Amino acid sequence: MNIPKLRIGNITADVPIVQGAMGVRISLSSLASAVANAGGIGTIASVGLGDIEKAKTEYERISREALIAEIRKAKSLTNGPLAVNVMGVLSNADDLIRTSVLEGIKIIVSGASLPLKLPALVEDRSVSLVPIISSGRAAELVLRAWDKRYMRTADGIVLEGPLAGGHLGFSMDQLKQLEQHSLPILLADVLEAIKPYENKYGRKIPVIAGGGVYDGKDIAEILLAGASGVQMATRFVCTVECDVTQEFKQAYLDAKKEDIVIIKSPVGLPGRAIRNKFIKDLEVQGKQVIKCPYRCLTTCNVAEAKYCIALALVNACYGKIDQGLVFCGENAYRCDKIVTVRELISELMAELEAY
Ligand SMILES: Cc1cc2nc3c(=O)[nH]c(=O)nc-3n(C[C@H](O)[C@H](O)[C@H](O)COP(=O)(O)O)c2cc1C
Repeated sequence: MNIPKLRIGNITADVPIVQGAMGVRISLSSLASAVANAGGIGTIASVGLGDIEKAKTEYERISREALIAEIRKAKSLTNGPLAVNVMGVLSNADDLIRTSVLEGIKIIVSGASLPLKLPALVEDRSVSLVPIISSGRAAELVLRAWDKRYMRTADGIVLEGPLAGGHLGFSMDQLKQLEQHSLPILLADVLEAIKPYENKYGRKIPVIAGGGVYDGKDIAEILLAGASGVQMATRFVCTVECDVTQEFKQAYLDAKKEDIVIIKSPVGLPGRAIRNKFIKDLEVQGKQVIKCPYRCLTTCNVAEAKYCIALALVNACYGKIDQGLVFCGENAYRCDKIVTVRELISELMAELEAY
């Protein structure tokens, strides 16, 4: 099939791929700029940045300054489209969103809770607002709230299906019935739910679908089902430019299908990860002792949390794999080599054209 361009607001990407955010410190300026330079949209994950020791006393300032540094670095490496992803459950989400806009970011992507008040934080209409949702119902809730409260609609929607990596917008029960929640089924629901708002605002709301999209054939099938683009994360881990350490990338290369499991996260959502020593130890211990000076999540009950997710993710990204949580998508076990972002995108586009 012909390669369609992806338009989000005033931004047009030649390649219909959004590189999904990967916190903590996995998708930063290096990966995001490489994707933008290769024609896609690169996303900086804003969660968990900055010196962890200093952040114990000045969490918000340290996070903000580190995000500014990443945005500036990314912009020095590319003129292509860049997005910042801010998880709504972060205690400093509003600050990170405002900071990104002040630094000239033109696409804000927000999920991990319904971003109902996002338009209130971003008055500048040249900034595209892209909620992440996992169902037609959630899309309808967000768009109805934005329409009623702010007379505004989304500039794009990321639909994240149950095969995605990291935190998932599905219950444990839903994750056991994957065929009922397949990406094409969810996409049909979302396309239906957004129609009234496309009609009211007289423009298309592009839906970018992701979660388990692995090759050009997957991309073609989801585009033919009505998506305007795809969001992909897992495959970008195994690239030269991905900001994470070699040990983390190696954990993907070593993973087998049966190693990829669903865990309960202190964020309050299920998540998908590689069942490594950290997860096996937790299965035996039940709970780790946590001291939390950060209060990074509004939804984390420190007294009851089984581990500190921020620390577990920081450990993993710095290569302390045995003490860390290695988030991944369902298809991570299929990654078998490290390639450059340009090689990956060329391969995907060749497969898409051949479809
Ligand atoms: C290691 C990892 C970390 C992630 N972190 C975030 C995050 O910080 N914020 C977010 O909205 N999504 C996050 N995600 C989800 C991705 O952005 C993406 O939507 C999803 O993984 C797409 O599915 P795929 O990995 O099968 O391509 C993460 C995914 C992975 C694999």
